Amino acid sequence: MNVSESCWKLRPAILLWILIFFCGSVLLFIDYRLPYREMDVKMTLIYPLKSTDHKIPIRENLRGYLIKTTGCRIPDMDPFDPTVREYIYKENPIKCNVTLPPLVEANLTSLSVIKSSFKAYKIKYLDVFVCCYFVFKRYDPKKDEEDNDILINRTCVKFKYSILIKDEFVKVKCFYNGSEIYKDFFCFVPPKFEINNEIQNSMRKPLSILIAGLDGVSRVNLHRQMRKTMDILKNELKAVEFLGYNKIGDNTFPNLIAILTGLSEDELSQVCWSNNTDHFDNCPFIWKKYKQKKFVTSYAEDASWMGIFNYQKNGFCKQPTDYYWRTFSFTADKQIGNQILMNNNLCLGARLEYKILLDYIKNFVDSMRIYKKAFFNFFWSAGLSHDFLNYPRFGDNDFAKLFNYLHKTDTLNQTVLIFLSDHGIRWSGIRSTNQGMLEERLPFLFITLPKWYKKEFPMVYENLQRNSKRLTTPYDLHYTLRDLLDPYKLTSNFLKKRNQISSESRSYSLFDNIPENRTCDSANIPSHWCACQENVEIEVNSTMAVEATEFAVAYLNAKISDFKQCQNLTLKKIISAKVSFSGNISSLGEGAKKDFTVSFVTVPGDAIFEATVRQTFFKENGLENKELPYTLKITGTVSRLNLYGSQSDCVSDFHMKLYCYCNT
Ligand SMILES: *[C@@H]1O[C@H](CO)[C@@H](O)[C@H](O)[C@H]1NC(C)=O
Ligand SMILES: *[C@@H]1O[C@H](CO)[C@@H](O)[C@H](O)[C@H]1NC(C)=O
Ligand SMILES: *[C@@H]1O[C@H](CO)[C@@H](O)[C@H](O)[C@H]1NC(C)=O
Ligand SMILES: *[C@@H]1O[C@H](CO)[C@@H](O)[C@H](O)[C@H]1NC(C)=O
Ligand SMILES: *[C@@H]1O[C@H](CO)[C@@H](O)[C@H](O)[C@H]1NC(C)=O
Ligand SMILES: *[C@@H]1O[C@H](CO)[C@@H](O)[C@H](O)[C@H]1NC(C)=O
Ligand SMILES: *[C@@H]1O[C@H](CO)[C@@H](O)[C@H](O)[C@H]1NC(C)=O
Ligand SMILES: *[C@@H]1O[C@H](CO)[C@@H](O)[C@H](O)[C@H]1NC(C)=O
Ligand SMILES: *[C@@H]1O[C@H](CO)[C@@H](O)[C@H](O)[C@H]1NC(C)=O
Ligand SMILES: *[C@@H]1O[C@H](CO)[C@@H](O)[C@H](O)[C@H]1NC(C)=O
Repeated sequence: MNVSESCWKLRPAILLWILIFFCGSVLLFIDYRLPYREMDVKMTLIYPLKSTDHKIPIRENLRGYLIKTTGCRIPDMDPFDPTVREYIYKENPIKCNVTLPPLVEANLTSLSVIKSSFKAYKIKYLDVFVCCYFVFKRYDPKKDEEDNDILINRTCVKFKYSILIKDEFVKVKCFYNGSEIYKDFFCFVPPKFEINNEIQNSMRKPLSILIAGLDGVSRVNLHRQMRKTMDILKNELKAVEFLGYNKIGDNTFPNLIAILTGLSEDELSQVCWSNNTDHFDNCPFIWKKYKQKKFVTSYAEDASWMGIFNYQKNGFCKQPTDYYWRTFSFTADKQIGNQILMNNNLCLGARLEYKILLDYIKNFVDSMRIYKKAFFNFFWSAGLSHDFLNYPRFGDNDFAKLFNYLHKTDTLNQTVLIFLSDHGIRWSGIRSTNQGMLEERLPFLFITLPKWYKKEFPMVYENLQRNSKRLTTPYDLHYTLRDLLDPYKLTSNFLKKRNQISSESRSYSLFDNIPENRTCDSANIPSHWCACQENVEIEVNSTMAVEATEFAVAYLNAKISDFKQCQNLTLKKIISAKVSFSGNISSLGEGAKKDFTVSFVTVPGDAIFEATVRQTFFKENGLENKELPYTLKITGTVSRLNLYGSQSDCVSDFHMKLYCYCNT
């Protein structure tokens, strides 16, 4: 074997990221600096919400709360709320950027040539057609090196129709009349343990863990996009859906680190990863504990150039788990990746990468069933969902199929399935709306326990269900995974005792009774990411309601001023006003924020608008704390709540149509 194809330095899309960042953060706003004024408003907690005196339905006012505890309230969001509806549409189906169909395919054990593709490849004479495969494997990087290199065996093993494969990763080439016509990559799950060494003893069988992740999908977006998957989860698998699962950090890394190690990013730096050039080998990943218990471990992730431990990081030195898919996906992506949309290649050759990943998961689980091995499998799919709000829809059938398969094959009779995301979408239009902002902080989480286990350990299930309506975090999920190392200890007595002695802590097992008065603070959720919101209706003629509304009207007029054919708008009436904030409203200090959502009528045209005006307090040098000045800005765009009809025929711009009242 010779070392080759090594040290692929990959920093290609940094410019792209910067571009995305700017596109994502073009929040339209005007920054006004206003003097501090005391809030002279009477606050009435509108809870539950009452219908107000206006005729048009303001959806938010009809909403209840999903999480309704002493410590946290999270509003129930309508996936198709008018304020976000414009961002929800059908995308064009993804097609791989290749002209020819696949010529070779793989099943659990073998490679075979797809005869029906011969025509497309103009293969007529089989005596001049041959394929062969190269075996490759991971090459452990040296200190400071990235986790990308492979060793490839230069012997190409020939086959014509099909061949049994005993290796994990192969590269395939096919030739017709001496010229290369096809290149592809395949992965298998060969046993990496002694077969038939299962000791039949009286010990109870452990529960395998299957963690299936879909990057960047809020709970609400999952409901929008993946109806079939939702249906299987809820109706067939009887999964528990967590309504108050709140992210603890901005992007994928901190949120998954919390699950996999129980540590925050800062703590991780102190404990095991001091330097961005370090590898993560010494970190206390939960899979190490499962490994100690003789579970077979596997970690598989698509879109691997921006991998959880590899994006601007160095990954691992020794491969972290028994099966490590990155070796395959990175290599294949480098050589046959195509159809790059925004960040990453969606396809490997003629196949969608997330589908290859799902097939791999199925093969992995099948193999473990055949070999009767308990497993811990963490897989993460970012390719499909990372960049586009409306792409997860394309994966709906495939995820539904996989979950259904796990169900039908009784895999889930001995496996805990955890289906989750890390956060909602972090850019694109919806992110600039109030709801999009909240969704971003609330990823989905579903947990499925074997039916018999729920019966035998009723308190586990009871608590799980109760906790689904409480504020929960990735740290809790970590604790839960620790509990599942020894699922048979979780008797009602054990849980009751633990509940009595446990003092308030940052994390709880989801099988424990999470305190009803838990707050973002006590759960260590930074207030910036806290989805617990207090909504307070304020008088429409109060100073802040009027100020916020006038600000919104001025904002509209500023937009309109570029269009000579549109008339200036004047405020006619404020319909409703409310303020939402997180944290303690009486201790607002520097950086504190309040969001005023106002709906109002303007003339001419009697247009009804809804705007969210954010008030941000800041401290200036020399000013007393009492005199906190603040800025106002529009978050997202201003929504039009009634139809504009022919009022705006004189403009074609989509957004201006909402605002423009044409000169006659
Ligand atoms: C390379 O592959 C060939 C064919 O499978 C095999 O005979 C040989 O032992 C392999 N070489 C190494 C170093 O594994
Ligand atoms: C996989 O494909 C090979 C070759 O076509 C076939 O002989 C084998 O039965 C297949 N195995 C499974 C599990 O389908
Ligand atoms: C193969 O290639 C040779 C030379 O390039 C050519 O003469 C021959 O006709 C080809 N045969 C087939 C079956 O295409
Ligand atoms: C980080 O690692 C690099 C390379 O090993 C080393 O040169 C540097 O001093 C380290 N920095 C810190 C803060 O440890
Ligand atoms: C598709 O492939 C063509 C030719 O290789 C290339 O020019 C084009 O940029 C690719 N498009 C995408 C979206 O990857
Ligand atoms: C499910 O698992 C339980 C406990 O391990 C076992 O008793 C039962 O037979 C299994 N059922 C099926 C359908 O495999
Ligand atoms: C929740 O209630 C417990 C006991 O009543 C109390 O000790 C704890 O401080 C409370 N936590 C918060 C965050 O208010
Ligand atoms: C707002 O209007 C109500 C009823 O019209 C009135 O009682 C109240 O004093 C007004 N508040 C302010 C701040 O003007
Ligand atoms: C519209 O309003 C802007 C600012 O409020 C003002 O400068 C402008 O003169 C007005 N235009 C008309 C036609 O009234
Ligand atoms: C809110 O902040 C004020 C002022 O700092 C403090 O007196 C009050 O106790 C706080 N309330 C809560 C519920 O933390």
